[in-house]
Amino acid sequence: MKHEKQKTREGFSSSIGVIAAVLGSAVGLGNIWKFPYVTGANGGAAFILIYLLCLALVGLPVMLSEHLIGRNTKANAVGAFKVLQPRKPWFLVGGAGVLSAFLIMAFYTSVAGWIYAYIFKAASGSLLSTNPQETSLVFKTLVSGVGEPLFWQVVVLLVTGTIIMAGVTKGIERVTKVLMPLLFVLLIVIDIRSLTLPGAAEGLSFLFKPDFSKITVSVVLAALGLAFFKLSVGMGAMITYGSYVGENENLPKMALKVALSDTLVSLMAGIAIFPAVFAFGFEPDAGPPLLFITIPTVFSSMPFGGVFMVLFFVLTAIAATGAMLSLLEVPVAYLTEQHHWSRRNATLLTILGIGLLGSTATLSNSILANITLFGKNFFDFYDFTTSNVLLPLGGIFIALFVGWQWGQSNVYQEISNNGQIANKGLARIFLILVRYVVPVGIILVLLAGLNINIIGFLLKLLGIV
Ligand code: PFF
Repeated sequence: MKHEKQKTREGFSSSIGVIAAVLGSAVGLGNIWKFPYVTGANGGAAFILIYLLCLALVGLPVMLSEHLIGRNTKANAVGAFKVLQPRKPWFLVGGAGVLSAFLIMAFYTSVAGWIYAYIFKAASGSLLSTNPQETSLVFKTLVSGVGEPLFWQVVVLLVTGTIIMAGVTKGIERVTKVLMPLLFVLLIVIDIRSLTLPGAAEGLSFLFKPDFSKITVSVVLAALGLAFFKLSVGMGAMITYGSYVGENENLPKMALKVALSDTLVSLMAGIAIFPAVFAFGFEPDAGPPLLFITIPTVFSSMPFGGVFMVLFFVLTAIAATGAMLSLLEVPVAYLTEQHHWSRRNATLLTILGIGLLGSTATLSNSILANITLFGKNFFDFYDFTTSNVLLPLGGIFIALFVGWQWGQSNVYQEISNNGQIANKGLARIFLILVRYVVPVGIILVLLAGLNINIIGFLLKLLGIV
């Protein structure tokens, strides 16, 4: 069943544009900041393997589910569920997605602000030091300040807001089409530099030689959360972008291409960072500051390091900006379509709201440092509740909706472009994944994260142990 499209609705104008925008959403601080530090903190290759498993079995099916819902309904995260199930409360899943967009943007714009600031610090030479104490001081001074990080957060919001106001085709598509290829080229250059350092091999074996003794339940939860965050799924961003995708695109192929390219970028970021970290004798488990403290030190220790450092932070800013466009588009599409706001007003209100909420994340390293929610400061609270709770929960409901509620024939129709693509076998596997694997897998990991060992409990119940 197809739904009537709004005639005036914008969309992506070409296949290349679609890929650039969707990949632009997936690739971001997740690849360059989060993936390396989470991998570094969780032991390297074994974590990466579990992450890849979560990506393939959970992240990818949820991504395809969102694209299918979005393209079928041509509506925003909330509207899509209202179109498909007008009388049931499924739209609340979209509503939770809008909330997640605000919470992620709150801390994401804060980190993006540090990145923007670092471009200028790198260019001015103030990060050129081979002494980690010194680069650490630069980072601490920045994040524990008040005016400077807030200023950069506002700059980030104004830049992304301006692109979003320009619209889907003239804003999102035009910008990401130029930026994505540039990002790949810059990463290749930095990878070559890192790989040719003496001692690079140790970093590579950290990335690619698994040691399973490091794996615990919280490591698996971190891998699952990262898979959701990385692919921008579980909160309707991919429903929203899917709604701008044309009828002839092959959605399963597109989701696969995006997931593979996104993983490639993460691994390339890992290759840019870890060989260099080991070559210069640093530890890989510095946590969130890894990018901000270790990397400048590493670059300062190499020939032409100053230039590479500027390039590196420009690249990261590019990636972060592309991802933020999709985060901002979720509430903007919701406000314009469900509440008939103008795109301009919707964008302005959204960035104002994010600015207010986001300032609490930014100031959680300074004047709000003592305020905690469930034992976490504002920044960590927004990060943890979105990646490790809201996105996986959203993922469960989106998978259940497509698997059990939407109707098998509707799913087959949409996934095959009304029968134009012969992919029935693939559709069957997809249905098994969204019906059983995704919900059961996520629930097990979430329960285990709450220290509830459900498998042990069931075994006990059956008298097996
Ligand atoms: N995928 C982005 C990253 O890895 O940086 C983050 C993100 C973007 C999450 C958009 C969620 C989203 F809707």
